[in-house]
Amino acid sequence: MTDWAKVWDETYTKQPKIYGDEPSEIAVQLANLLVQKPKPKRVLDLGCGYGRDSIYFAHQGFEVMALDCSLVALKMLRQRIAGTNLERLIAPIVADALQGLPACDSCFDAVYAYLFFCLAFTDADITKLLADCARVVKPKGHLAGTVRSIYDRSYGKGEEIEPDMFALPNAVRHFFSESYLERKLKGAGFELQFLKRHDETVGESHFNDVLSFVAQKA
Ligand SMILES: C[S@@+](CC[C@H](N)C(=O)[O-])C[C@H]1O[C@@H](n2cnc3c(N)ncnc32)[C@H](O)[C@@H]1O
Repeated sequence: MTDWAKVWDETYTKQPKIYGDEPSEIAVQLANLLVQKPKPKRVLDLGCGYGRDSIYFAHQGFEVMALDCSLVALKMLRQRIAGTNLERLIAPIVADALQGLPACDSCFDAVYAYLFFCLAFTDADITKLLADCARVVKPKGHLAGTVRSIYDRSYGKGEEIEPDMFALPNAVRHFFSESYLERKLKGAGFELQFLKRHDETVGESHFNDVLSFVAQKA
């Protein structure tokens, strides 16, 4: 079985700026939504990498649990915030999200996941991850992020291991249609509020077809 933490460690070692330093558009959109709420905000950045979006959220004054399976990525995040006031706002956590989110029920105002659910997760894994996201988000809280769409140019490359899921030697991708995303979110108790299909360039990466979304827990 592939050790994904090791694969991601190698990726970040080779390409430490793979996703650049700028926050993603959907992170900014989520933050704009959260700042309208009266109380301090807590956000879980699921698969945060080296934390470009976690840092952006912390700059907005949010408390952030920055969770990733890659030790290398989280070491980079720790180094970036060391000695700054962001240290008290960002908690970097090394964990495999599939083993259960290390967080209490209803403890976040939002879960944010940029290009996370479309990784090497089967349909059953996605169901489990989304149910866990629903558990840790407060009622009326948000789940936002981006997934690779079925129109992405890498769709169909490699061996199909499940419908819309393909394995290459060093990458497994699960592609989402709009209806699949909506169905999975709904199944976990989230209602889609915003959905946009678009191209996205971040750092050294160009994703030619992604779905960005914001959903709200019922
Ligand atoms: C496409 S990258 C996105 C990184 C970050 N969200 C960003 O946009 O800069 C996906 C991230 O998910 C992490 N990841 C993959 N599988 C994971 C798992 N099972 N549990 C926790 N993190 C995981 C990887 O280490 C990687 O940092």
